Amino acid sequence: MAQSTSTEKTSAGPNTVTLTDNSTGRSWELPILEGNEGPRVIDVRGLYNDTGFFTYDPGFGATASCDSAITFIDGEKGILRHGGYAIEDLAEHSSYMEVCYLLLQGELPTRAQRKEFESTITYHTMLHEQMLNFYRGFRRDSHPMSIMVAVVGALSAFYHDSTDISDPYQRMVASHRLIAKMPTIAAMAYKYSVGQPFVYPRNDLKYAENFLYMTFSVPCEDFKIRPALARAMDRIFILHADHEQNASTSTVRIAGSSGANPFACIAAGIASLWGPAHGGANEAVLQMLQEIGSKDRIPEFIQRAKDKDDPFRLMGFGHRVYKNYDPRAAVLRKSCHEVLDDLGKRDEPLLDLAMELERIALEDDYFAEKKLFPNVDFYSGIILQAMGFPTTMFTVLFALARTVGWVAQWKEMVEDPHHRISRPRQLYTGHPKRDFVPIDQRG
Ligand code: SDX
Repeated sequence: MAQSTSTEKTSAGPNTVTLTDNSTGRSWELPILEGNEGPRVIDVRGLYNDTGFFTYDPGFGATASCDSAITFIDGEKGILRHGGYAIEDLAEHSSYMEVCYLLLQGELPTRAQRKEFESTITYHTMLHEQMLNFYRGFRRDSHPMSIMVAVVGALSAFYHDSTDISDPYQRMVASHRLIAKMPTIAAMAYKYSVGQPFVYPRNDLKYAENFLYMTFSVPCEDFKIRPALARAMDRIFILHADHEQNASTSTVRIAGSSGANPFACIAAGIASLWGPAHGGANEAVLQMLQEIGSKDRIPEFIQRAKDKDDPFRLMGFGHRVYKNYDPRAAVLRKSCHEVLDDLGKRDEPLLDLAMELERIALEDDYFAEKKLFPNVDFYSGIILQAMGFPTTMFTVLFALARTVGWVAQWKEMVEDPHHRISRPRQLYTGHPKRDFVPIDQRG
């Protein structure tokens, strides 16, 4: 974490801003901190002690909550990089296992490092057998995200030997366990929902192949993994791996700042991701496309999205940071065509409808003016549905892929010697002091 704070007596200069309270004429110099890329920040850590003021930023649209070396986003230019590597290059040339290593270690692995990391992850894919009982406590029609929150949170009840966050070895084991077990937990949530037997992971399969095998294979016949689908699955995992300080990652960081164990923190991240404004949007996009139904109804929905009195929003459009095309959406759009071609579903009506919706929206002044472009969720659902996943599994897959990002960001925070519990303040708008009123005098 950057060291200087405004409690140091800072004189005005090129690396300070001057804050003046015009009601009193008092001024203070606040330090400016600069990272390696992106906007400079005004260091307000000492603001309250020096000035008695809080800052005010509901939704944290202009707030840097931490410093991090993991992921860089430039919303205006539509840039996403992990450890300096562009997401387009990683999606094209790397693998999810390599990206996991990069997010955790800050460097792409050598061949030997990759082999060792993949082996470590492979040998953590099994779940404690007793955890399978949790699934049977759920209704078959439970949303699989409710199962994910519960089972991931319950990992801390079974893996006590990796919950001491002060122990680097336990932090590493917990990180590996979470990355390795998420596909197993997710696939079992799917199997439970369709009434099929759980399928155990296989050590001879790669990460994405193993997940497809555990999800779609049945004991009655051999399962053939289509290379194009395994590649597409791996690429989808890469594109969802990490994304700076988004809502669910911030949730994980805040939960972790109290010293909570990593399994509980990731369960909190899953809960936050579930919302339709965040990771739940991919499921909402499919529901929206199915509601639109045909191209001739697109103008009606575009109109609704622009109507301030209508809560309807164009799901899969807009982003807090990207005010340009989400680079992940561009890669997914290309993968959409590849997967549908491989499955012989080139003329998938939903893709056709989505592309027409995108074309019309991007030509509309409202979306141009508000810089609303397709985001990562706009095309992902179409691919996932074509691959055979029900819409209720879409956010589960997002959570599976994002686990490495949550874990890497949690680890970065815990290993920062200056980290402290996150405890924001508020602008109080409630009643001033008043005397207690006994119930028989309350009218
Ligand atoms: C993800 O943060 C991350 O990095 C998240 C993520 C990740 O990888 O972790 O990228 C994943 O969550 C992607 C976003 C998925 N969500 C959706 O697709 C849901 C639809 N999008 C919106 O709900 C919205 O765009 C958000 C939530 C994504 C962003 O909301 P903001 O930044 O708070 O912006 P806002 O709601 O203040 O909107 C600004 C304006 C508003 O109009 P005005 O009040 O200024 O007149 O744009 C309008 C909004 O009404 N607007 C939309 C819109 N999104 C914003 N209008 C119609 N349709 C939309 N989708």
